[in-house]
Amino acid sequence: MKRIIVIIALIFAAITATTIFNGCAVPASIASKSGAQLWAENCLRCHNSPPPNDYSDGEWAAIGAHMKLRTNTMTDTEINKVVEFLQSAN
Ligand code: HEC
Repeated sequence: MKRIIVIIALIFAAITATTIFNGCAVPASIASKSGAQLWAENCLRCHNSPPPNDYSDGEWAAIGAHMKLRTNTMTDTEINKVVEFLQSAN
């Protein structure tokens, strides 16, 4: 009897862990896109983009937050990729 309870508890723990990890996973459609690709698809819609070295890393982080509001469609994951791309290029 005890063994059955232990087995049920282990199954429950495994299901819970799988659910938590999958819940946090980035959707494949976003994960497969690079920062450069997301930047080209989203940031050039309204204006030409200034060169990456026009702004510091900190400024790009602030601009990312600002432009996330402007685009109104990008997720945190997507905007972070774009910001990392622009920071790595400056
Ligand atoms: C929906 C239109 C729109 C999109 C999409 C957009 N921007 Fe902007 N952007 C603006 C406007 C409008 C301004 C002028 C400042 C303002 O009024 O917010 C601006 C200004 C800027 C500036 C000047 C500095 C600043 O913060 O004002 C930078 C740099 C910039 N955008 C980068 C980006 C990047 C990077 C993306 C992609 C993540 C992006 N933009 C996407 C509309 C947009």
